[in-house]
Amino acid sequence: MDALLANRGTRIIVCCGSGGVGKTTTAAALALRAAEQGRRVCVMTIDPARRLAQSMGLEHLDNVPRVVPDVDLTAGGLLEAMMLDMKRTFDETVETHAAPDQARAIFANPFYQSMSSSFTGTQEYMAMEKLGQLRAQADVDGRWDLIIVDTPPSRSALDFLDAPQRLGSFLDGRTIKLFLAPARLGGRTYLRVFNAGVWAMSGIMNRVFGAQILTNVQALIAALDTIFGGFRERAELTYAHLQAPETRFLVVATPEPDALREAAYFTQRLEQDQMALAGLVLNRVHTTDAPNLTVKRSLMGAQNLADLPEHGLTERILRVHAQLVQRIGQETDLTHHFKAGFPHVPIARAAAQATDVHDLNGLRSLGTSLAAG
Ligand SMILES: Nc1ncnc2c1ncn2[C@@H]1O[C@H](COP(=O)(O)OP(=O)(O)O)[C@@H](O)[C@H]1O
Ligand SMILES: [Mg+2]
Repeated sequence: MDALLANRGTRIIVCCGSGGVGKTTTAAALALRAAEQGRRVCVMTIDPARRLAQSMGLEHLDNVPRVVPDVDLTAGGLLEAMMLDMKRTFDETVETHAAPDQARAIFANPFYQSMSSSFTGTQEYMAMEKLGQLRAQADVDGRWDLIIVDTPPSRSALDFLDAPQRLGSFLDGRTIKLFLAPARLGGRTYLRVFNAGVWAMSGIMNRVFGAQILTNVQALIAALDTIFGGFRERAELTYAHLQAPETRFLVVATPEPDALREAAYFTQRLEQDQMALAGLVLNRVHTTDAPNLTVKRSLMGAQNLADLPEHGLTERILRVHAQLVQRIGQETDLTHHFKAGFPHVPIARAAAQATDVHDLNGLRSLGTSLAAG
């Protein structure tokens, strides 16, 4: 892990994985470690737990990286952090690309309000959009030499890679062209292009959404289409960015069947898409200080103490230890299974901490654990 963080050729690290496995925590812990080792880091978190955000000085969702206080900068590093505000990123993108009156019309469109905050894939798309902006800024002012990104809390890790293209093709593909056809074309051309299937479709859309909403959607898409000049192209550009050698992915998983299965899908997908996987972060791995005390021996010991009330606590501790060792065994098996499927993927382990990780010291311990394992 330290070699990855120290490699000056690494400019972007993307932490992916299924929900709840520790993506946000890992991104923050690695950012802190890299900064304290001398990198100038910007970390973009998406949904940090409140206390973690506070400990990083992130009081507001203002979409701008802020210096994280209390970081050891003696090695010459820097740590800035931000929380992604999806709606604001969308607004900023519109403001950047539209004339003021165009932007006002878009903001006033009722469908924009719901689309910019809840459209499927919007969060993933905006995360990529923001990453693109940060990366460009890094080139302009040289403020950061490493950007670490957390990914949205989707159920599947693949959503992050799929959503921009899905959103892009919705906004830029056939759907738009069809929606726009009646507005742009007239007479015979109109009839030719706007065929029976499309009529049927817009009939359905009308029934589902109501005529007024459909008009709003058409107006919005027409406006977005003119200012963005091709969402799909933008999505492809961002994609190319992710394929560049300066970008490394980390797939985060807990040692549990579902999370590791998801990690396996994701690993295959990165290979297909020619994106560089730096490795698997196996988070919340259980450990014991008494590895030689096996399940069998501790249960036997507990049994022997069962009739001695004065040793009740010891008996219970032995039973808890037996459960822990059993769990460690299962986690080891699952890890071996993953390794067998992907022998070339390096694995870094982070121990399950005794409590949630919500302050800089907690992040430091996690970083140390990651670098050691
Ligand atoms: N190694 C760990 N030990 C203990 N708690 C952890 C560890 N990693 C993450 N957590 C906790 O698990 C919860 C979920 O982590 P989070 O990073 O928000 O997951 P994700 O971003 O993947 O949804 C948080 O409360 C975090 O503090
Ligand atoms: Mg998260």
